[in-house]
Amino acid sequence: MASTTTLNVDLGERSYPIFIGQNLITDGSLYTQHLKGRKVLIVTDDNVAPIYLEQLTSTLSNYQCHSVTLPAGEAYKTLDAVSTIYDELIQNNFDRSCTVLALGGGVIGDVTGFAAASYQRGVSFIQVPTTLLSQVDSSVGGKTGVNHPLGKNMIGAFHQPACVIADMKTLDSLPERELRAGLAEVIKYGLIDDPEFFIWLEENIASLLALDKTALGKAVEKSCQRKALIVAADELEHGQRALLNLGHTFGHAIETALGYGTWLHGEAIAAGMCLAARFSADHGYCDEDTVANTKAIFTQTGLPVEPPNEMSAERCLELMSHDKKVRDNNLTLVLMRGIGQAFLCNDFDQQKLRKTLDSAFN
Ligand code: NAD
Ligand code: GLY
Repeated sequence: MASTTTLNVDLGERSYPIFIGQNLITDGSLYTQHLKGRKVLIVTDDNVAPIYLEQLTSTLSNYQCHSVTLPAGEAYKTLDAVSTIYDELIQNNFDRSCTVLALGGGVIGDVTGFAAASYQRGVSFIQVPTTLLSQVDSSVGGKTGVNHPLGKNMIGAFHQPACVIADMKTLDSLPERELRAGLAEVIKYGLIDDPEFFIWLEENIASLLALDKTALGKAVEKSCQRKALIVAADELEHGQRALLNLGHTFGHAIETALGYGTWLHGEAIAAGMCLAARFSADHGYCDEDTVANTKAIFTQTGLPVEPPNEMSAERCLELMSHDKKVRDNNLTLVLMRGIGQAFLCNDFDQQKLRKTLDSAFN
């Protein structure tokens, strides 16, 4: 993929482009089209800053650039991190005409987006995602927020970015464990509604793990296309956007129970998608081949297919009751009728869920 691909997230006056390509951190023209005002605050973390902050700051040398470097990782996706961003904005007299720019993975994107959504009741922000996970999922769609000790992403806001600049060259420095975790979200799109993409992924996991540029380019583009369409159809998750949470109710419970960052988000949702497939089969919604094929692709990717030993079914159920898809005490789960046939289900049998979890967590 030599050239830059541009996709559009079609949201009326909040529409924005997603740029996907190589070496985009240094492509100043992409930023100038979408930066509001002269003042920019770059928010990044202490793994990403030493590699990419200087490059980006020199790309933006015509702007008044400040930066704040947060500690890396899920454990720091907190209101304290948001507060550190506010401190920087206020101390440097940032007004409403500024832009806040997230340079990093999904944690930096979510925290920065939430700071931008709430600072002076909302300022412009740009996503420059540097992990596979953030390039294929979290940078697109405007979900921003932080964790609470009792639940993942419990505090947040919808706030769409002005643009997304996905520089695939940044994936060269990504640790392999993070690459694998990002693939979980890519595989999710195949499992939700694209069986052909799922088959392509089964055939190309090795190339993706070897950072083959053509294969990765296709995976990122295809994922962003799917996400852009779903977000355009249901920006605020009144319906079908919830399909993007396949495996997440179980996965978020795992992340919270183990302590944020013990399992990576992608690892937790991989096990979560396997649990969703297992429960779907136990409930009679799908066949055993669906469960086997779901587990096989995650095994091939080097991701967990079983929940962690140190967690119980009770704890999982307790944490699932805080899920954002609970309405009037009724949880909606994303289940599967087959590969590429995910659906929303709020009338599943609670006893059967308990039985599935009892044998999975034994
Ligand atoms: P992350 O932001 O923690 O990044 C993973 C690790 O990689 C960090 O240690 C980071 O410092 C490092 N890193 C980032 N880019 C790098 C690079 N190019 N080279 C070397 N190291 C690099 O995690 P993530 O997997 O990107 O994102 C996970 C988060 O995204 C979770 O909090 C999850 O809840 C959230 N998420 C949000 C949405 C959404 O719609 N907003 C969707 C999916 C996931
Ligand atoms: N990652 C879930 C969503 O954006 O809706």
